[in-house]
Amino acid sequence: MSSAASAGPWWRHAVCYQIYVRSFADSNGDGVGDLAGITSRLPYLAELGVDAIWLTPFYRSPQADHGYDVADYRDVDPLFGDLADFDTMLHTAHEHGLKVIVDVVPNHSSDGHAWFRAALSADPDSPERARYVFRDGRGDQPPNNWPSVFGGPAWTQVPDGQWYLHLFDTGQPDFDWDNPDVGDEFESVLRFWLDRGVDGFRVDVAHGMVKEPGLPDLLEPVGAGDLEAAMSDTVRPYWDQPGVHEVYRRWNRVLADYPGDRMAIGEAWVVDAAAMAQYVRADEMQQVFNFHWLEAPWSAAAFRTVIAETYAAVDPVGATPTWVLSNHDVTRVVTRYGGGDVGRSRARAAALAELALPGSAYVYQGEELGLEQVDVPEQARTDPSWFRGSGPGRDGCRVPMPWTGNRPPYGFSPDGVASWLPMPPDWDSLSVAHQSDDPDSTLTFYRRALAVRRELLGRLSDQLEVIDRGEDVLVLSRAGEPALVCVVNCGTVGAAVVDLGAPLLTSEAAAVADGMLAPDTAAWFRA
Ligand code: GLC
Ligand code: CA
Repeated sequence: MSSAASAGPWWRHAVCYQIYVRSFADSNGDGVGDLAGITSRLPYLAELGVDAIWLTPFYRSPQADHGYDVADYRDVDPLFGDLADFDTMLHTAHEHGLKVIVDVVPNHSSDGHAWFRAALSADPDSPERARYVFRDGRGDQPPNNWPSVFGGPAWTQVPDGQWYLHLFDTGQPDFDWDNPDVGDEFESVLRFWLDRGVDGFRVDVAHGMVKEPGLPDLLEPVGAGDLEAAMSDTVRPYWDQPGVHEVYRRWNRVLADYPGDRMAIGEAWVVDAAAMAQYVRADEMQQVFNFHWLEAPWSAAAFRTVIAETYAAVDPVGATPTWVLSNHDVTRVVTRYGGGDVGRSRARAAALAELALPGSAYVYQGEELGLEQVDVPEQARTDPSWFRGSGPGRDGCRVPMPWTGNRPPYGFSPDGVASWLPMPPDWDSLSVAHQSDDPDSTLTFYRRALAVRRELLGRLSDQLEVIDRGEDVLVLSRAGEPALVCVVNCGTVGAAVVDLGAPLLTSEAAAVADGMLAPDTAAWFRA
């Protein structure tokens, strides 16, 4: 561990694989993924070559938002198994050398949480209600004009006439973080999972917990519409309030009580890279998702801007960046880049760029298979944002993983079982088994890229230079012995790379021919 890149805590350069628990692997044939299913597929992830896994919520929950509505933060929902299944999964992951990050959902609980049920049966001015945001209305109207991210008003009225705030679904009441009970409870929840041995937390809606005092109306009321727009619409009296940083200072001290570089990564959809970097100051979280790449189009100029702004923000606070192409809330990257062969080729090229960059990369399950967004039939949709009128919803990026076989459920569930979301009939060539045998598949490409990255890391530093080779070509040079040069061609004609020698790795078999890098491809060189 001599060079800058491989030194320091494990998470600084980790490739972390996001498991959407419902959709990864179903061990008991009820059509829904579960913890035992994950355990059975850990060898696949170890072989893929990732360093860590992040599991979306598996806690007790009525599943109004597929687990992001937690009824008991210290137990596993029977749908996914039990605490013993969790311990087995964790222990087995560690045996495979994989770190485990779990989701924590501190902005809101479920309306089935014991605290919320107590609040409902208590008086309007009771201490039970004071753990959530209950207010009187304005006449027969809600207390203010805030919309839910999922569409419709952010308030629901209870029988005695008061209203409670939910920035998301009705089933997800927001906590009042000004109430000391809430902070104490979450410290205890973190310790519960840290004591069990988790390596870190992914913090849901990390920019949302503190609301502007007085809950002022929005000056420009927004209507229901586009979910992705609502999430990235960040200048609001409930997003990114200064007080939220106190929460992470406290959590930083909690994590420091444990050995082994435990960490937290925040999901903070904030206005720009500078606001993002506030969450990773030395005494706050270790990482924050950098969503700017996934918000950028397929464009070398856009990628250069994202990289420059990311470094300008994280360098002053001494943090390393993270890179994200997709997750369970956004359109799959292949589709975003145009779909089909072109989209897949671009997605592989973008992955090569992200894996060359210093810092940590988050890979969403199915990215390594080149899965596309699925147009889930309306009658099969389940996302609360769809029901609340915010567009088609997120089911299309949450369709279960195809493992094997040539028809649904492709080994996700036992044969003959209907998976919780229907799987497309034409996914057989995308299955893990099928792609494992194909030297040109996206899966083989990911395995190779992750293996080469791991091998190179010890000889690379965090020093990055963005080199000018024309408007449509992104050229990154990461210092080392030798340096790693990544060239991405976002243009429509070949890009000369003859001076860089033979490529070490390419995003497509035929990407480099006669010293030219084809459009929509990328390559690594050692220079
Ligand atoms: C986060 C999650 C998303 C969830 C929302 C409410 O954005 O990633 O899936 O719906 O928070 O908890
Ligand atoms: Ca199951």
